[in-house]
Amino acid sequence: MAAEFPKGFLWGAATSAYQVEGSPVADGAGPSIWHRYAHQPGHIRNGDTGDVACDHYHRYEEDIALMRELGMGAYRFSLSWSRVLPDGRGRVSPAGLAFYQRLVDRLLEARIQPLITLYHWDLPAALDDLGGWVNRDVASWFADYAEVVFRALGDRVPMWATLNEPWVVTDAGYLHGLHAPGHKSRKETPLASHNLLRAHGAAVERYRGLARGRIGIVVNLEPKEPATDSPADVAAARRSDAYMNRQYLDPLYFGRYPDEMAEIYGADWPAFSESDFALIRQPTDFLGINYYKRGVMKYDPAGIPEQAALTRPPGGVYSKNGWESHPASLTRILRWVKDRYDAAPLYVTENGFAFDDPDEAPPAGVDDPVRVEYYRGHLAAAREAIAAGVDLRGYFAWSLLDNFEWGEGYSLRFGLVHVNFKTQKRTPKTSFRFYRDVIRANALL
Ligand code: FCB
Repeated sequence: MAAEFPKGFLWGAATSAYQVEGSPVADGAGPSIWHRYAHQPGHIRNGDTGDVACDHYHRYEEDIALMRELGMGAYRFSLSWSRVLPDGRGRVSPAGLAFYQRLVDRLLEARIQPLITLYHWDLPAALDDLGGWVNRDVASWFADYAEVVFRALGDRVPMWATLNEPWVVTDAGYLHGLHAPGHKSRKETPLASHNLLRAHGAAVERYRGLARGRIGIVVNLEPKEPATDSPADVAAARRSDAYMNRQYLDPLYFGRYPDEMAEIYGADWPAFSESDFALIRQPTDFLGINYYKRGVMKYDPAGIPEQAALTRPPGGVYSKNGWESHPASLTRILRWVKDRYDAAPLYVTENGFAFDDPDEAPPAGVDDPVRVEYYRGHLAAAREAIAAGVDLRGYFAWSLLDNFEWGEGYSLRFGLVHVNFKTQKRTPKTSFRFYRDVIRANALL
């Protein structure tokens, strides 16, 4: 049965705090940068905010029932830092911590393993006021926050991820001004990236003394190919690969940045100290990879920062937000990570597709055949990577629920479960049943 997955393969789905919880400042929680940013006019499509989202803060038991129905072995979710520490440091909110304790306890009762992401983009606003990710002190603020939750939950949570997608945090948040905190600064961006990596290292270091589960980081990777074989396009693809993929993995695994970084940033590329790399390069227990699409790049002198631009290869299958479905690139990126970094074990911590589902579920249910094909193709690609020797131990669909898709608000639906944002009614889609059957069989049927 070539389509079988290894015994014990971990099947899950993922969400993040600001995208699903709602009630972002309830029960004494402090505001995060996303709360603040979403409430400033003009930032989010249709003026949407995460104020209610999927109301997971109140409906988590109903959502855990859906997870059981799906047969999930693990649930990847994130903690809101400012729910736990309203000012980002110092005072702990018992109510905030209690929410996550309840959630973890209910998951364990349902025999669903929690995988907690400590940072999925919602920095406490109070820390942003002090410079946020650009302030070097953020590494110790993050480690102190991590320590609070390791002490509270470390005995029950077997898997932790420090950061989700540091590349998006900085590229969208500090360079292009498309995500909170909405900056557009070439000088700040590499500093923010570096401090994210330092914060990751500091939290890993803290974890070792406190708990005995596994800790790693989640990066989003996109194999880069040149649009043509012209030397200019080939060089553009190489710079893009350095900027998006190697900028994070090289320091984590080799303790240095790729040479292209200085070429990309020129005078804005700072000097970093060796002791920082020793912190960043802490050994971890797994690597999480979020994969959505490949990047076919062409030379574009106006492309910021790496003088490259994405092209849209004709004839592909595209999501509502223009992402190309390209399963073979998932196999490729997993093999590349194994070959270049010898990183293992690996988990696909996000993979999914935004399809044009209706806002209200029709009585006959929500049929999403294109998303089913996306999952079928990508699961086959993951299986192929395993056959090629990649130590891939699990797969998480993005997302369990339709949710607040950052700058796109509620206009982009990624869920296996449809959410009617007027009534909060949940309706499993066809893709939910497809994935349930895969999980049950531990195989692609
Ligand atoms: C990833 C994010 C996740 C979600 C998906 C669609 O980059 O980690 O929160 O927005 O994209």
